[in-house]
Amino acid sequence: MAYQDVYQAWQSDPEGFWMQAAEAIDWTRPPSKALFDDKAPLYEWFCDGQVNTCWNAVDRHVLAGRGEQLAIIHDSPVTHSTKGITYRELQARVASLAGALRAKGVEKGDRVIIYMPMIPEALEAMLACARLGAIHSVVFGGFAAHELAVRIDDCEPKAIIAASCGIEPGRVVHYKPLLDNAIDMARHKPSFCVIHQREQEVAKLIEGRDFAWHTFQYGVEPADCVPVSGDHPVYILYTSGTTGQPKGVVRPTGGHLVALQWSMKNIYNIEAGDVFWAASDVGWVVGHSYICYGPLIAGATTIVFEGKPVGTPDAGTFWRVIQNHKVKSFFTAPTALRAIKREDPAGILARDYNMRSLGALYLAGERADPDTILWAQQILGLPVIDHWWQTETGWAIAANPLGIEELPVKIGSPSVAMPGYDVQVLDEGGHPLPAGELGAIAVKLPLPPGTLPTLWNAEERFRKSYLAHFPGYYETGDAGYKDADGYLYIMARTDDVINVAGHRLSTGAMEEVLAGHPDVAECAVIGVGDALKGQLPMGFLCLNKGTEKTPEQVVKDCVKRVRDQIGPVAAFKLACVVDRLPKTRSGKILRATMVKIADGEPWKMPATIDDPAVLDEIAGALKALGYPAEG
Ligand code: COA
Ligand code: AMP
Repeated sequence: MAYQDVYQAWQSDPEGFWMQAAEAIDWTRPPSKALFDDKAPLYEWFCDGQVNTCWNAVDRHVLAGRGEQLAIIHDSPVTHSTKGITYRELQARVASLAGALRAKGVEKGDRVIIYMPMIPEALEAMLACARLGAIHSVVFGGFAAHELAVRIDDCEPKAIIAASCGIEPGRVVHYKPLLDNAIDMARHKPSFCVIHQREQEVAKLIEGRDFAWHTFQYGVEPADCVPVSGDHPVYILYTSGTTGQPKGVVRPTGGHLVALQWSMKNIYNIEAGDVFWAASDVGWVVGHSYICYGPLIAGATTIVFEGKPVGTPDAGTFWRVIQNHKVKSFFTAPTALRAIKREDPAGILARDYNMRSLGALYLAGERADPDTILWAQQILGLPVIDHWWQTETGWAIAANPLGIEELPVKIGSPSVAMPGYDVQVLDEGGHPLPAGELGAIAVKLPLPPGTLPTLWNAEERFRKSYLAHFPGYYETGDAGYKDADGYLYIMARTDDVINVAGHRLSTGAMEEVLAGHPDVAECAVIGVGDALKGQLPMGFLCLNKGTEKTPEQVVKDCVKRVRDQIGPVAAFKLACVVDRLPKTRSGKILRATMVKIADGEPWKMPATIDDPAVLDEIAGALKALGYPAEG
């Protein structure tokens, strides 16, 4: 079958298409139908089915004779170790952890926060929650205590599962003090914490509240899988919105299973027994869908890589992992390739490795620039597949579905819409635009299985953020166009979200942190172009009159403030003090114009500007910071 046939099969009978896809999942009670639209424009999938995620990701493969196959390979250049866990071992480990959580009172529907680095125990914690029907929320290790506290207060977890430490090149990330601070800061207190003590650092436990990973499981009865309804959330994953309050994306169990299973074969060309590697982090959606759940649901082997594309120990690490573990499909962010390319432009290190197992390289998380794609194609001699999706959707909106057929690659485009997604480019009034015209990218409702039905505790915000602007559509927040062949081109965000090294960050959240500095009267944060990370945040600060600190001191404070409150992952290092911010007469800050000046792009004086001279001052401040950057 060709892609067009598959897409048309979905268009002509969406219900039949998804019911057929659902047959690849083991249901305790099969769903009577796929779509539940009685609360439109809020939609649910497979609500009346009964199913368990952990069963489908682990137990069923043991039952099918894959018990001795590796489920997880942990490859950790930062600890100089590699270890494998078979499906049978994984089943025992997860059932034991779930049993211990259950013995401490964790039940179906309870929330559990997971704050862990790239170790197999992170996946085991996720699966143990899913086994019980508890709803996990993984928080990325690069976030600071305050961000963790915000998430604790929003999802009110019964338990928190953490590790003693993470390992970043050159430093140990002390998770436990971050966790303790976060719990101190949060209004809600978890009943208990489980701490996986790593040998690189043993954390101090608080008696009565904290339990060590192994002793906690001593003598417990392993837990069986608890069936849940298809619409029961398997997890909540927080992502950046336009304010400091992150959005809790809810992932429903049934649709998640069906969509990921479908995507593994059809998009990534992966079947049971194959080796799949997504070099991301369990704290991001890529880590949820394609380090943990997708490959395991498909019965494949997944790689948990604890390292960086460069420096651990060199720019050949990715190629070594592909060779050593015989990776068939590999997924990473363009920024990681740019980092490798910068260190090894001629790809000399790649020649040291035998990568015959590899079929294709997949890129997502940010716009894939043509230079990087062409470089990777040349180094690997393989298809390089850009694909586009978001935390909200959980799987690709647009891709080149290699498992169905390899469509011609058009560099700069993540290719075409996947079944389930009717993608339209709209004008401000919500009318579809002709091919080639730039507009807001929206998806006709309902979104397919696996996508978010709502935001945790925030249905109104869900409606307002995604459904209100273009009635009948889901607003992606991305702008771009479609060409005459239906290929999509994703050009920019339409909101205040920026993308730094493939990480989604909110400039609004950073502005809130900066505005909290006692000497800052007003501020703006924009994303400026960066050759390695795609974008970097840059802050403009207006100070209160009479402040005793020098501008340099305030800038230093502000950089530290963002690192302490949001985390190192914000990569906030560029800031300057200015007298005024450029605004429209109605007081709106002209961020888009500031971005154009910083990036050295042509720009027009906005007709609504209050005082044109302010832009000259901004240009001067940018010049002092070295922007526009050369080249
Ligand atoms: N825990 C704690 N800190 C973390 C962290 C984690 N899990 N991940 C990143 N950080 C820290 C880094 O140590 C760094 O701290 P520093 O300011 O003290 O140096 C900071 O957050 C910024 O990290 P990052 O943006 O990743 O920059 P980097 O300079 O360390 O590395 C790259 C640059 C390109 C190598 C790296 O960003 C990378 O591998 N990117 C790929 C991203 C990716 O896979 N994204 C997933 C989306 S699909
Ligand atoms: P996240 O929710 O962190 O996965 O970030 C999603 C956002 O990253 C999207 O809305 C896009 O802005 C951007 N993005 C992800 N993949 C791509 C891609 N292939 N091309 C362009 N932008 C992308």
